[in-house]
Amino acid sequence: MSHPLEQLRDDALREIESARDAQSLDAVRVRYLGRNGSISAWGDRMKTLGPEERPIVGKLLNEVRNAVTAAIEERAEKFRAQKESDALANIDISLPGTPSERGSLHPLTQMLDRGIQIFRRMGFALADGPDIETDWHCFDALNTPPEHPARNEQDTFYLADGRLLRTHTSTVQIRAMQAAPPPIRVIAPGAAYRRDEVDATHSAQFHQIEGLYVDENVSVADLKGALEFFMRELFGSDTAIQFRPHYFPFTEPSLEVYIRSKALKGGEQWIEVAGCGMVHPAVFEAVNKARGDNAYDPEKWSGYAFGLGMDRLAMILFEIPDIRLFSQNDLRFLKQFA
Ligand code: DAH
Repeated sequence: MSHPLEQLRDDALREIESARDAQSLDAVRVRYLGRNGSISAWGDRMKTLGPEERPIVGKLLNEVRNAVTAAIEERAEKFRAQKESDALANIDISLPGTPSERGSLHPLTQMLDRGIQIFRRMGFALADGPDIETDWHCFDALNTPPEHPARNEQDTFYLADGRLLRTHTSTVQIRAMQAAPPPIRVIAPGAAYRRDEVDATHSAQFHQIEGLYVDENVSVADLKGALEFFMRELFGSDTAIQFRPHYFPFTEPSLEVYIRSKALKGGEQWIEVAGCGMVHPAVFEAVNKARGDNAYDPEKWSGYAFGLGMDRLAMILFEIPDIRLFSQNDLRFLKQFA
């Protein structure tokens, strides 16, 4: 006759075998091996057995407990594997995935990059300066007197401490010359700020590439050559360029740059794209004074400078009708340049 423990074991193994899922398997485990389970109950009953019987039943209890535990574990493992393969069976690996959104460079960034590439080929190095500037870098050092309209509060964003958001990138000319003696050949791409009435062609923040070349015997011819090369690289070899006399405090002579091309508005219109000129001796003198030397002796060195309106150039190149589109972050607009 078999021992009741063997009977329990056989019952348990049968129930484990017929458990349909992990949940009913766990119910079997609780029924036999749980704290009040029928196999566990034999642990307490051991105390009541006599010394001859106890080791035999004890050994049997261990065997039964191990056999049932192993059978449960094995069956549970089957359920886990089954669950996994069921989950995978529901996945159609031939379905297209969910595409992740891909970012791209802002059209103004693309424009600045293209501009920088062209000037690098002409040997210009990159320079930069802060957007928040002293009025000395923005005006005084650039031969711009206190009564000049650019210094008016209506035209310029001033901070409480007297500094200001630079109204042009020409500030970097001064910083570059303070930092190093001539010869110097740098460009400075960056933002500039004015209290403009915002409309389709004016924005309170806009972007420029400033250029400065100082060496011996630099002439207007060098300036024209550099800007002509730049415009033709950008807009095509049939681009016409015009230099018209103008006034800037920090250059003499001063010129405005206009371009016209078949590709632009049917080629009918001259479009203003830059200011430029030969660096004014007063600018060299201001730099010398700040440096405490005569490194930029106006008798020895000459230079040209220019400031390109990059928002304007990007609008022409990409045929963008409204400058406000650059800052509105409308994905329908931005995605066209991805
Ligand atoms: N700073 C001028 C502006 O923002 C543009 C400019 C004109 C820059 C002549 C220059 C220059 O370097 O030589 O309107």
